[in-house]
Amino acid sequence: MSEQTNPIEDPVVEEAQDQSAPVEGGLSEDAHLHIDKYESMWLKIAFIIMGVFFLSVIVSSFAIGIQLPGAYARIDPTTVNDPGSPFAEPGLRELAPGKYEAYYRAQIWQFTPREIHVPLGAEVSFYVTSQDVMHGFKISDTNVNVMVIPGQVSTLKHTFDKPGEYKIICHEYCGQLHHTMYAQIFVDEPTEEVASGAQN
Ligand code: CUA
Repeated sequence: MSEQTNPIEDPVVEEAQDQSAPVEGGLSEDAHLHIDKYESMWLKIAFIIMGVFFLSVIVSSFAIGIQLPGAYARIDPTTVNDPGSPFAEPGLRELAPGKYEAYYRAQIWQFTPREIHVPLGAEVSFYVTSQDVMHGFKISDTNVNVMVIPGQVSTLKHTFDKPGEYKIICHEYCGQLHHTMYAQIFVDEPTEEVASGAQN
């Protein structure tokens, strides 16, 4: 058995040889640190991309002001329909010429109001909340796309530069008739705007 200890001795010899190797040229130490040209290139690209992501978060939160809603955007979902709540009688209000605010109440399975008309070029600030479960609020052909969460008022602003019909759809599954939950916004041509102005 003692003769079979030779294989164990051999690694010791190899180690000894390894130790002598760096001493010979000093190159094998460098070989451990060497990073392949392409590997190094991709490492740099990865760090640059991470830097861009980090910067984009900083810029969007501080320069553009995209942040999580604060306490001002919270509402007790049980008081949504109370008198005095802006969501008790939701709808469109004109704040100034061409500027509107629209309050929307979401519930299973409808939006209130179901239909609004705004003139072409109208800038509309949307305030949306839910009185029951989580819904979605997406206006077709626009960037308006928010979650509607009970207890929170989602706000967004959009300027309607193209006339026509826009559908608001619920894109968050909210129960059996989720797919039927929608509302409409009609953006009217200037001629119609004059007509609706005459109605007032
Ligand atoms: Cu509301 Cu889906």
